[in-house]
Amino acid sequence: MKLAKGRAVTIRGVGTALPDRCISNHDLSKTLDTSDEWIGQRTGIRSRRIADAGVCASDLGIVAARGALRQAGLPAAQVGLVITATISPDQLMPATASRIAHQVGAVNAGACDLSAGCTGFVYALSMATGMVVSGLQEHVLVVGAEVISRILDWEDRNTAVLFGDGAGAVVVSPATGSGRILGFDLGNDGSGGALLTIPAGGSRMPATHATVDARLHYMKMSGSEVFRFATRVVVDSARRVLDSCGRRVDEVRLFVPHQANLRIIDAATRRLGIPDDRVYTNLQRYGNTSCASIPLCLSDARAEGRLAEGDLVLLMGFGAGLTWGACLMEWGGA
Ligand code: ACO
Repeated sequence: MKLAKGRAVTIRGVGTALPDRCISNHDLSKTLDTSDEWIGQRTGIRSRRIADAGVCASDLGIVAARGALRQAGLPAAQVGLVITATISPDQLMPATASRIAHQVGAVNAGACDLSAGCTGFVYALSMATGMVVSGLQEHVLVVGAEVISRILDWEDRNTAVLFGDGAGAVVVSPATGSGRILGFDLGNDGSGGALLTIPAGGSRMPATHATVDARLHYMKMSGSEVFRFATRVVVDSARRVLDSCGRRVDEVRLFVPHQANLRIIDAATRRLGIPDDRVYTNLQRYGNTSCASIPLCLSDARAEGRLAEGDLVLLMGFGAGLTWGACLMEWGGA
């Protein structure tokens, strides 16, 4: 949906956090029946960052949030709301966002978590945008923060090789320059919920000794079904958001898809007709960092000089739910 005419809103600052410890495919092949060749060819991933014991999602989120506020030149006390998108929250309760807001000094902000699988960042960005457009908030801090390594089964080669830890944050504020967020397309198909799930630990299957013994507190994924879903929704959702905003695919300067698998990204961009040099990827270095992947890309792309004020940028997320979400914006020059 294209945003209704009104107040222009933009991303004003971006920050990130990555653990120092880097684990290569070769490292993984020492403990799992896998190889650098298999992981590289099937996913494009070469290494990922893994947090040290004791480091949780909010720890990374706090560093990313401080970076975004610093780049925005915004005092934390002016933030009205902190939304943390995550699939690996510190705890089920309280919200990870509450600790992040407290630690960064966002003393005048509300705080909540948002759960929409790896699409969480795009969903949170849409809610932040709506808040600022409507005037309900002036500045919203959106944080994607993950320590997914804690919810992975390190004995399951189907999932353990795919993910990495990290965080990215953005400040959403009224636009002052020419860039602005133009519109979103959000979707969900709950019939695919079982394809990507953590079966136990919630109200449907509370934690017991038996659930722990059966390793049901770890992520389970039907990889090939999720792969087919992802290639389809990326293309459909990207087209929908472009159509609703009256823009063409050849106008897109940078396509920033969720970093799950290079083959998903290649297949979708080929069908959309976006040339490789307009697609941003960094999953080779970080793996799939779920809700952190898109802000990590925005930060790296900005540092590499691949984002200029006014550039048409298309963000695309997909993940558990099954959910998907696209955002079209003219880059605000953050
Ligand atoms: N190393 C070596 N072999 C492996 C590994 C591994 N790490 N993992 C699986 N295999 C084997 C399988 O057991 C299978 O062997 P078999 O033929 O003897 O049964 C073979 O490789 C092929 O397995 P497939 O699952 O068919 O492989 P595929 O080409 O589909 O690739 C992958 C698997 C990489 C998981 C792919 O399906 C994928 O990326 N899916 C999408 C995942 C995704 O995007 N998830 C995140 C969504 S975001 C979120 O919300 C969390």
